[in-house]
Amino acid sequence: MSHLSSQLDETAEKVNGFLREVVNLEHEPTLLYKAARHIIDAGGKRLRPYLVLKSCKLVGGREEDAVPTAASLELLHTFTLIHDDIMDEDEKRRGLSTVHVKWGVPTAIVAGDLLFAKVFETITKHTDSRHVPPKRILQVLRGISEATIAICEGQTLDMMFESRESVSEDEYFEMIRAKTAALFEVSARCGGILGGAKKSQVKNLGRFGYYAGLAFQLIDDILGLTADEKILGKPVGSDIREGKRTLIIVHALKHASETQRKNILETLGDKSASPERIRKTIDLVNSLGSISYAEEKAMEYIKKSKNALTNFPPTKDKEDLINLADLIIARKY
Ligand code: IPE
Ligand code: IPE
Ligand code: MG
Ligand code: MG
Repeated sequence: MSHLSSQLDETAEKVNGFLREVVNLEHEPTLLYKAARHIIDAGGKRLRPYLVLKSCKLVGGREEDAVPTAASLELLHTFTLIHDDIMDEDEKRRGLSTVHVKWGVPTAIVAGDLLFAKVFETITKHTDSRHVPPKRILQVLRGISEATIAICEGQTLDMMFESRESVSEDEYFEMIRAKTAALFEVSARCGGILGGAKKSQVKNLGRFGYYAGLAFQLIDDILGLTADEKILGKPVGSDIREGKRTLIIVHALKHASETQRKNILETLGDKSASPERIRKTIDLVNSLGSISYAEEKAMEYIKKSKNALTNFPPTKDKEDLINLADLIIARKY
């Protein structure tokens, strides 16, 4: 795992310079660029760029051809985080105040918009067309557009579910497929495309990213209830306060007694619920086996993601992707 963490640091080094250059603090109005850089500079795991670069190398591509796209997928991710924190009314991200808390909602909206535009500027301006055929660049742009549409759809479902009487397990998976797995999927696919992969290889990389992304969101939901807030860098328990229908909640509501169900529903979505009531609700869903259930599902998907790589020969890059899948399960933040 420590080998992987040093590799994630390397990825960060490769893309961070790029990110600082394309979202340049020397540009005006300074307010806009400062707000847009806030979350980027706060760090983050850089998993999506890692997935792009490793997938490119796995199919024998040149890593440098994929760096602008790797950076741009982190820009896209950051844009969704800034807007997500407005939607979820969360006050902490990557250990810092969220953009809307620091600068207000209007500035956070436009900072997110800037990053979204920068996604396409970065790829079209910085991908070296002497090495990467335009057809591949177009495929990448199309994939990213489609993933962004999926994210908008998933984020809307996520919000709609908050006020729904009941949400099924299938509906939960449809929502996380769109809001989270689509970005992991496109990251792996883009790396493959830029590295000159065959169609079948792009498909398998996409499957790897997709299943890893589903597992990733399941673990994110678990950590959102069980993690140490200081290590996680974002609020713990806010999913309950916001009324989020995570798989944990979906499972708990299905298996609770009438009284327990009433208890959960009373706290779920109550914006003024005390930390103590939140804690009690977390204990209750835990006692119903709902956290273990989500963990089992995450492990199932991680297995599927690794299986998607079966047809690739055993190389160092393949091992790195498999380690990434393991990290998704083992992570604490
Ligand atoms: C958080 O993603 C958003 C989700 C899809 C759950 P990460 O956990 O990858 O966030 P950073 O980039 O490391 O901060
Ligand atoms: C993750 O949303 C998906 C996006 C940000 C598009 P969440 O709301 O589940 O993620 P966190 O927990 O705030 O990072
Ligand atoms: Mg959120
Ligand atoms: Mg959200």
